[in-house]
Amino acid sequence: MQNDIKLLQILDWDSPRQNALLRDELAAGLLEPQARIAPKFFYDALGSRLFEAITELPEYYPTRTEAAIFRDNLPAIRQALGTDFTLIDLGCGSCAKAGKLFHAGILPRRYVAVDISVEFLRDSLQNLKRELPAIDMLGLGLDFTDELQLPAELPLERRMFFYPGSSIGNFSPLEAGRFLQGLAARMDRSGGLLIGVDLIKDKAQLDAAYDDPLGVTAAFNRNLLRHVNTRLDADFAVGDWKHVAFYNTDSTRIEMHLEACRTLTVRWPEAEVSRARTFAEGERVHTENSWKYSPDGFATLLTEAGFADIQMWTDPRRWFALFFARKAG
Ligand code: AVI
Repeated sequence: MQNDIKLLQILDWDSPRQNALLRDELAAGLLEPQARIAPKFFYDALGSRLFEAITELPEYYPTRTEAAIFRDNLPAIRQALGTDFTLIDLGCGSCAKAGKLFHAGILPRRYVAVDISVEFLRDSLQNLKRELPAIDMLGLGLDFTDELQLPAELPLERRMFFYPGSSIGNFSPLEAGRFLQGLAARMDRSGGLLIGVDLIKDKAQLDAAYDDPLGVTAAFNRNLLRHVNTRLDADFAVGDWKHVAFYNTDSTRIEMHLEACRTLTVRWPEAEVSRARTFAEGERVHTENSWKYSPDGFATLLTEAGFADIQMWTDPRRWFALFFARKAG
């Protein structure tokens, strides 16, 4: 038994090369006619904590509903995962969901926790290791939405990818299909995928989940500007921006935006010159989409991405679904 974790930091936000790439990406998004900032910029250390707070809001049903699905279906989930597996937790955050599985007796041989927020990952994994010292634990600090680089020494057999929380909804359906194909390519028939998916439902429920009266989701959205200020040396004044979130029924997705409360100019330096973007009052920066699926629609996405033997568990209101699938033979 070892009390230490291994941490591989593949994404180093502060390395000059990564920093230049991230700056270019941010500047390009801000200069597009419809300005946008990728959702990965939500997750600095404070953003990760704000997301944890969102999951405790009464309006934000996904986390609670998914937890209940896990609780109500433990024997079937245990059977699907089997024994002697490597659990690869994509976007592990606080590692709380994996921790609950372990405390319920679903124990992997090895736990690989992957997250973009490296400091948060280190703290979370160290806490989990203290609780469960018998499990071999590895942390991977990387942006797996770009490319999931797994260490070569990680055995191919019995890889179980764990992608709870409906984070798959933050990709477009096309990107989600490609991402799922990438997971299928990183496993063999002895592996599998356990994934949480938020389902299409009444607009009022969805609107409330992403625009809570306490303003936690608004803080999460606006904190992204603080993070961008650090990354890009930009001068966003957080107080000038309003949180806007709504369910777009036609495209079955939540859209999150930040809306300029007055006409303003945002500036940042670029190779010794100053770049700027002026926003008219009411103009928006698009910060996130969160797609919702029908059970059949998501099963089709899995099948088309190369998965088979699909099982699904849901809650009595059919608000959320947990899928398990294996690679098609
Ligand atoms: C991480 N992801 C699944 C969350 C969602 O529901 O799309 C992010 C989030 N954005 C606002 N609230 C929560």
